Amino acid sequence: MKKKTFYITTPIYYASGHPHIGHTYSTVAADVMARFKRMLGYDVMFLTGMDEHGQKAEQSAVKAGKLPQEYVDIIAEDFKDLWKTMKVSYDKFIRTTNLDHKEAVQRIFNELYDKGEIYKGKYKGWYCTPCESFFTDKQLKDGKCPDCEREVNWMEEEAYFFKLSNYADKLLDYYKSHPQFVQPEGRKNEMIQFIESGLEDLCVSRTSFNWGVPVSFDSKHVIYVWLDALTNYITAQGYLSNDDKDFKKYWPADVHFVGKEIVRFHVVIWPAILMALNLPLPKQVYSHGWILFGDGSKMSKSKGNVVDPKILCNRYGADTLRYFLMREVPFGLDGYFSNEALIKRINFDLANDLGNLVSRTIAMVEKYFNFTLPKVQRPSALDNELATFAINMVKDYQFKMDRFKFSSALGDVWLLISKCNKYIDETMPWELGKNKEKYDRLATVLYNLCEALRIVSILISPVMPSTAKTIQSQIGAEEKLCTWEMAQNWGALPSNITVYKGCALFPRIDVKAEMEELDNLLKASQVTEEKQPEEFINIDDFFKSQLIVGEIIECDKVKKSKKLLKLLVNDGEKNRTIASGISQFYNPEELVGKKVIIVSNLKPVKLCGVESHGMILASQNFEGNVKVVFVDDSVPAGSKIS
Ligand code: ME8
Repeated sequence: MKKKTFYITTPIYYASGHPHIGHTYSTVAADVMARFKRMLGYDVMFLTGMDEHGQKAEQSAVKAGKLPQEYVDIIAEDFKDLWKTMKVSYDKFIRTTNLDHKEAVQRIFNELYDKGEIYKGKYKGWYCTPCESFFTDKQLKDGKCPDCEREVNWMEEEAYFFKLSNYADKLLDYYKSHPQFVQPEGRKNEMIQFIESGLEDLCVSRTSFNWGVPVSFDSKHVIYVWLDALTNYITAQGYLSNDDKDFKKYWPADVHFVGKEIVRFHVVIWPAILMALNLPLPKQVYSHGWILFGDGSKMSKSKGNVVDPKILCNRYGADTLRYFLMREVPFGLDGYFSNEALIKRINFDLANDLGNLVSRTIAMVEKYFNFTLPKVQRPSALDNELATFAINMVKDYQFKMDRFKFSSALGDVWLLISKCNKYIDETMPWELGKNKEKYDRLATVLYNLCEALRIVSILISPVMPSTAKTIQSQIGAEEKLCTWEMAQNWGALPSNITVYKGCALFPRIDVKAEMEELDNLLKASQVTEEKQPEEFINIDDFFKSQLIVGEIIECDKVKKSKKLLKLLVNDGEKNRTIASGISQFYNPEELVGKKVIIVSNLKPVKLCGVESHGMILASQNFEGNVKVVFVDDSVPAGSKIS
């Protein structure tokens, strides 16, 4: 039988900075859901990736002294690295700078243009660079960006527009006939109000910068980064390409997970584009809340209060951080992040409740039965109660997981864990162990504990995949006993299982000492992040370079090199040899007689056999093209520049 499909996505993250705990939150949530659905037997497609175009990425690249492509390559690797550390099991990772994606975006743009859904006009409005968004006067909040509250700039430009204004009624009708499309409910009401206050046509091209996908028939324009980004959900599956089998198989997506600040793009612009393309809409857009800090601010790299998930992951392990994120903040609501809350969860939920239960159970099977439980089972009322509790809980858990209530689903699993700890108190195995005649009863009690742990391990596996495996190997449960089906089957463990002792799953942490240590670590990481853009030099540093005007007397290619030209330059006193990496951009004869700026006090170096005495100044644009800085012919060679 063909498996049912489940297609889930995260937002594609801006490649304008390194990943932080907020990105981790969305991605882990999607991963948990993907793992859960795989466990249930679905054919899952889990897509994440990077949004790499736009002014923001371009500006970050400039700040870092890199070409945009170089810069986004580094950031994409950084995200991938984090996802690997966090055990994120994505099926595809899309980057909007992929050639396939760019071509598909152009085809989509052309199709919309041909259908008359996109037309050429003039844009006037307020632009917020960090959000890559235009706003009308009405939309501004105290003259600032309504989303991030930063300064906006007035912009006017010739542009292409998408006829979004045609879609207001269609969207409202769609929301009505598909009540699950926008969730949670509260967010839907905000969006209805937003649409009812009037939709204007959307500006979908820019001429003010280059770092984007050009409009194929009007290359002065690059396609608006949000149009480029939103279409990733279909281009990643091959829409309008030669290989669209995944598109046919998985589209429409079952759910887009998004942060609440970008819900508008996903439930207004995106469905309107899909309607214009005559494509089905995603079944649901689920908007989760923000992870906030103690001061109530949304954690964001630009505000400098980033918590580095890599530091936390290295310290406590991916499973712990994943558990914390899914348990602490009910999905859909805002929640606070604090080191203290994290450590408390580790100590209480993980070390005390779960870790202890596992180690106590294993230790007792070791102590009383030398690691292997004998074949006896005499269920009592208490045992039946535990079994019924576990089986009912599995149903609640599934109901909640299907509705993305991760925190509450985990809460249910922890109820079973508490129930087991209580069962130990009630059955008092240490007392049973004092009397050989009660060993049958003791074996039954310990069997039931292992059985409950088997079910716990299956249910925590989407959130804590490694811990689940460790528990399964410690209680000697084979893989085939740890499937979803088997979670609903009390008594699946054979009654002669052999358990294995391992180290403590979650060692307890000394809160005070750890808080101090963690604070220092986090501060150190923030200081390095904040410092970078402020690496000013003072005027003395600048004057260390001697810049003078030189005249190029001779110029030849360097035989051994594809890049270098050998220049003979008159510096006002003498002729000096300079090797310069501009061979791909100039023919030697173009340069002879030209005046240039040279850095005259650079230490000589040998480049491909040429001893170079200085350097000539040139600029490099975003495509990597180099232009030498020429000086007016009337300036004599040897003139100082300052
Ligand atoms: O908006 N709490 O990218 P982005 C919870 N490229 N989630 C958070 C968070 C926080 N403090 N901070 C970030 C973009 N997120 C666009 C998306 S999609 C076609 C294009 C998560 O790098 C949350 O999911 O700013 C949010 O929506 C997303 O990161 C924004 O990432």
